[in-house]
Amino acid sequence: MPTIVTTVALTDPLRRRIREAAPGFDLVEVRRDDADALKAAAAEAEVWFGPHLTPELFALARRLRWIQTTYAGVERLLFPELVASDVVLTNVRGMHADTIGDHVMMGILALARNLPRLVLQQAAARWLTVPVAELAGDTLGIVGLGAIGQAVARRAQAFGMRVLGVRRNPQPTPHVDEVLGPDGLEQVLTRSRWVVLACPLTPQTHGLIGPRELAWIGPEGYLINIGRGALVDEPALVKALQEGRLAGAVLDVFAEEPLPESSPLWRMPNVLITPHIAGQQRDYTGRAVEIFADNLDRYRRGLPLRNVVDKRAGY
Ligand code: GLV
Repeated sequence: MPTIVTTVALTDPLRRRIREAAPGFDLVEVRRDDADALKAAAAEAEVWFGPHLTPELFALARRLRWIQTTYAGVERLLFPELVASDVVLTNVRGMHADTIGDHVMMGILALARNLPRLVLQQAAARWLTVPVAELAGDTLGIVGLGAIGQAVARRAQAFGMRVLGVRRNPQPTPHVDEVLGPDGLEQVLTRSRWVVLACPLTPQTHGLIGPRELAWIGPEGYLINIGRGALVDEPALVKALQEGRLAGAVLDVFAEEPLPESSPLWRMPNVLITPHIAGQQRDYTGRAVEIFADNLDRYRRGLPLRNVVDKRAGY
């Protein structure tokens, strides 16, 4: 019997949903911290559902044909052995778009309206006015115009912002006023007050934002990162913020997670830190299972899967 192995914690209805989509398959549930069970399960797995497949487990997974991760970002799964193999990788792209769109607007509004300071004042019962700004008329630049970037664009346009975007294949994109290719990065960063990183982490985007790019954003500009920490040269970001060469930042992802307590970012009043939760939502697992179940049905019937990752491109 072909085996599905999952490290995802399932409720009864979700377990049933998977079983119904794959009659004739065995479903093996393993805890991600149970090393022995993981090894035994890996050796049996034809299908893997979950994000935590290591190169060590992959080496044991001789029967593996397909991995459905529950993340959008797949950089951790793209180790050389997997990239070189015939194993198909699918992700849950699209699932995070609305919730991350909300999170980005929350961060932008919070900094524009001085919310961090207002919250502190409220805690101290202090009635003091603070400077606030409106978003209408501001320019927002989005790096990466996949589902997440487009969800941000839609919201930003509704706020009256002018939206610029950088995209590997520059093509007209809904709610984006101007789309440029990667060589347009300088222009987009220079013209935007708010810069949102919504691109995947790949060898091409690793360290994309360094001292030069931060200088393009400039002292009136804000950086919002909901992609991956390694998109940004974090020491350079800290320095730019400390020296007033960047107005502020909204950061959900970091070079090291959890962000170490010693990071100066924790103590900056113009930085809003969230613990890698931008993509969280009410029913994350349920939605991921829905994508998986649909793909399982396709897999069984030999139809093309949805959300296949281009393993060489990295997303
Ligand atoms: C979360 O960071 C994801 O990639 O889904």
